[in-house]
Amino acid sequence: MPGIPLEGLPIAITGASSGIGRATAIACARAGMPVALAARRVEKLGHAAAEIAAMGGRAIVVPCDVANKAECEALVERTVEAFGSIYSVFANAGYGVEGPVHEMSQAALRDIFEVNFFGSINCITPALPHMRRAGRGHILFCSSCLSKIGTPYFAAYSATKAAQDHFARAMRHELAPQGIRVSSVHPIGTRTEFFEQTAGRSDNAALALRTPEGFLQPPERVARAVVACLRRPRGEVWTSLPIRVGLGLSIMMPRLTDVALRWAMRRRGR
Ligand SMILES: NC(=O)c1ccc[n+]([C@@H]2O[C@H](COP(=O)([O-])OP(=O)(O)OC[C@H]3O[C@@H](n4cnc5c(N)ncnc54)[C@H](OP(=O)(O)O)[C@@H]3O)[C@@H](O)[C@H]2O)c1
Repeated sequence: MPGIPLEGLPIAITGASSGIGRATAIACARAGMPVALAARRVEKLGHAAAEIAAMGGRAIVVPCDVANKAECEALVERTVEAFGSIYSVFANAGYGVEGPVHEMSQAALRDIFEVNFFGSINCITPALPHMRRAGRGHILFCSSCLSKIGTPYFAAYSATKAAQDHFARAMRHELAPQGIRVSSVHPIGTRTEFFEQTAGRSDNAALALRTPEGFLQPPERVARAVVACLRRPRGEVWTSLPIRVGLGLSIMMPRLTDVALRWAMRRRGR
């Protein structure tokens, strides 16, 4: 089965200045999709756009802080202006922070929700009227494998990822009758700026900085999975079967999971 032909279907990608977003933008452009690249670091977006243009693809750069609703609306408007429509939004921008909940300020907690969760909603909501009019579209949330498990020292981060996951599932059913697909993407550890950024925002990033190399995948792995999902839509996108199965079992066995988590934290100096 050839799947949906992606050539000419425009996509807006947030967090396209690095890591998973950048790799996905390049993979989408390679599949023939015009791409709107959004993030705050415009220079880095420019480099990605130049790489896409050199491949013969189409890309525009849109400076956007996803916590700013007006800038997200402008992202959708600019995409439609440049490419004539918007088929897909990959709500990917996000960051992590490591630390015990009792040391985290309310402001820091709200900030991470503003970017990871509300930032996704800010970009998706203005695209929906276009998709509903067209009777088709595909929304993707970049969640995480950690959406399925409250992770010690990553409570806030995993809560934002769980919120995205729950919204994606609910929206998937609400929007299916209108021809709009909704997927959540659940990467495992991915070799990006994420860990460095997390360390920069945390007093003690003992876990983030000691993520075992064997647990890390290249961002291109996630990018390929996203393009495959755009071609053949599915509800959840996973890039590691063992982790997916393990997390499924952890939901069924919470006590055993708690023992395993305590052991893993001690082993990694937490
Ligand atoms: N790396 C992992 O192990 C991993 C695992 C599971 C899930 N994820 C998820 O994957 C997504 C992408 O992360 P990554 O691994 O690719 O990390 P990354 O290399 O640090 O990329 C994060 C991207 O988000 C953008 N961003 C951050 N805050 C933003 C804001 N307020 N407005 C607009 N853009 C913002 C950054 O761009 P600017 O700084 O230029 O704005 C950057 O392009 C995140 O949602 C993350 O939670 C990552």
